[in-house]
Amino acid sequence: MSSLRKNRIFHIGTVITVLLVFSACYYDKSDTIYPITVVTNCDTTNIKYANQITSILNANCNNCHSATLANSIGGGINLGSYASLKPYITNSSFLNSVLRNGKAAPMPKNANKLDNCSILVIQTWINQGALNN
Ligand code: HEC
Repeated sequence: MSSLRKNRIFHIGTVITVLLVFSACYYDKSDTIYPITVVTNCDTTNIKYANQITSILNANCNNCHSATLANSIGGGINLGSYASLKPYITNSSFLNSVLRNGKAAPMPKNANKLDNCSILVIQTWINQGALNN
């Protein structure tokens, strides 16, 4: 075998090794990078603030973050109306808190992470402009 050819094989081996090492690290963190891996049976059509978003908030958040409770047990954060929720969409803490990605206090506080479909619905609504619809 010519030395040029050996050299080429060596380089291919190096590239494959490097790819394997980096892909291992990459997949270790996939949970943080892509918190939603597989979401089945999740209806993401026709998402509206007045429907799916308020349902999720009422079921999981407004027992602390409603307008009346926000100042006592909701850390002063009122998610009870579209207007009061909007600043936390703008500063990303609403999405980060439910993603539990370390960029905001993990929510819902002292409870399980929201199910993947609820998170996907929130993400989709935000990606569509977080409209007051
Ligand atoms: C048991 C009460 C409780 C529930 C339920 C709850 N929160 Fe909170 N939330 C708090 C408190 C208290 C804080 C203030 C920060 C802290 O103490 O962790 C807070 C903070 C936040 C913040 C600001 C985070 C930051 O780092 O700036 C956001 C956004 C938020 N909550 C969203 C939500 C959402 C969305 C839900 C529902 C999915 C939810 N919370 C459910 C009590 C709650």
